[in-house]
Order: sequence, then structure tokens, then C-alpha cells
Amino acid sequence: MRGIMGVAGYPIGHTLSPAMHEAAFKELGLNMAYHAFEVRLENLSDAVKGIRGLGLKGMNVTIPHKVEVMNYLDEIDNLAAEIGAVNTIVNRDGRLKGYNTDGEGYFQSLREAAGSSLEDKRVLVIGSGGAARAVAVTIAKNGVGELVITNRTLQKSENLAETCLKFANTTVLPMGRAQARLTEFDVIINTTSVGMYPETGSMPMSMEMLSRGTIVSDLIYNPLKTRWLKEAEKRGGIALNGVNMFVYQGAIAFKLWTGVEAPIRVMREAVLRNLKGE
Ligand code: ATR
Repeated sequence: MRGIMGVAGYPIGHTLSPAMHEAAFKELGLNMAYHAFEVRLENLSDAVKGIRGLGLKGMNVTIPHKVEVMNYLDEIDNLAAEIGAVNTIVNRDGRLKGYNTDGEGYFQSLREAAGSSLEDKRVLVIGSGGAARAVAVTIAKNGVGELVITNRTLQKSENLAETCLKFANTTVLPMGRAQARLTEFDVIINTTSVGMYPETGSMPMSMEMLSRGTIVSDLIYNPLKTRWLKEAEKRGGIALNGVNMFVYQGAIAFKLWTGVEAPIRVMREAVLRNLKGE
């Protein structure tokens, strides 16, 4: 049977995942297909049962179902359980296991940009929602010098820090104090949606105090370079956008489903072509 995968979310209109995975199947000559499924919350349980019933290979899960879907799976991978969200389901002979490849995908893109381990680095994470949880928990588990978390709503940072503290030296700071200490960080990561299309004029934090050589990373990939990343570059920062995180989270899911290494370059090209509207 043709291997069928997909992504379930609501709304699902603008997802780049089908184009990215279809490009990978074509490149490797795999007889597989990837479809975007618009799934409302009230249908999520039936949709997950459908993966089993129809014998689909697996499914990506996106906003707003990453947390709720955990209730319908047979098993949850350790990292996904620590993060508290699942973005990838793998169907092994009718048994559904949930993974979170967002955190690992991000970590791969950051390690590539940093060119070395983060074990002696100070990292600031701005935001404490779902994306922040994936990023912060994965960084903490992989080893980091110091992790500092800040957010508009500080209680959410406290909750996230509680998980991260099991693995790494973690502190919570209010936005203003984190901003005042900007020069102390080697890596600064925006996990919020501030600056995303169409609100491209907003920034999650001022870059005035930034030191040269700091890695400034924005999970946003639309626009490819947010105003915040542009400001960082003006001050000698090294900018990293969210494209590689998106590609790597897809590549890790691809390997879980197919058992073969994903063709990263082809997947990245497909994403960039779509983002540029080609
Ligand atoms: P995601 O899954 O993309 O992380 P989320 O779980 O809704 O989405 O989290 C959104 C994050 O962006 C949160 O940290 C949120 O801050 P609050 O916890 O205070 O809501 C942050 N965020 C969203 N809009 C923001 C804004 N205008 N200013 C500051 N932070 C914002």
C-alpha cells in the first residue's frame, strides 16, 4: 500500500509541510503521500483512530492540537512527555506513539549556528508557550551553561523553569531585567509570535544593548528576517531564522516514519520556494 502521512491542525490552510515532504518523497523515489487534514477539536479523537483504522504511517500534529492529542495515543516518548506536547505520531502495527520533533529540530539548527556545544553558554529564551517549552526543555536536556527564561506572563516561565531545572541551571527573569542583562547572553531566542507576518513592525525585546557576536535566533520564518533579526544584525549579532528548525523537525519525523535519512537540502529548497511564493 502507498505510505500515507499528513498533518492535522485547525486551521491548516498555509502549512508548508505537504510541499516539504512531497519534495522529499520525490527526491528519494518513495511511493508515499503527505496530505494536510483540517481537523476540528471535536473530531480529533476520531481523526487519531483513523490513523489506526486506515493504516496511515503517521501524522504531524499542529496548532491547536499538540497537547490534547496526547490523550488519544498508546505511548508518549520521554522528551515529548517532558515538553508536554506531541507534534509527530508514528503508527507501528496499529500502536500509536507520540514524539516531539520541534525541540530536537530547533536544537540541531542552533548547534549548527553555534558551531559548538552549548555546555558553557548562557541562553535567554523569550516566551513560555508551546514553542518555548519544546525549545527550552530540549536545550536543558542536551546541556547548557545557564538557561534564563522570560515572558510577558511570568507564571508560565516559572512552570517551564520547573521542568528545565531537572536538567540544567535555570532562572526566571521579568522581561525588563532580562533586557537590562542582554550583554551577558551568548544566545537569545524569540519563541513568541511577536514580529510574525502581518505584524512585522513589532519586536519581542529591544536590541539596543546587544553585544557583537551574540547569536540571535527567531523561530519565525515569515518574514524570513524579522525586524528583530535585522536590528540584531545591525549591532553585530549573528541572526538565525526559523527555517532550519522547521526543516529539521520535518526531517526527524520523516526518518521516524520511513526509516531513511531525509534529503535536507531538497526539503529546505521546497520550503524556501513556497515562502517566496514561487
Ligand atoms: P506557541 O505554541 O506558538 O508557543 P502559545 O503557546 O500561545 O503559542 O505561546 C505564545 C507565546 O508568545 C507566549 O509566551 C505569549 O506570552 P504570554 O504567555 O504572556 O501570553 C507570547 N506572546 C504572544 N503575543 C505576545 C505579545 N503581543 N507580547 C508579548 N508576548 C506575546
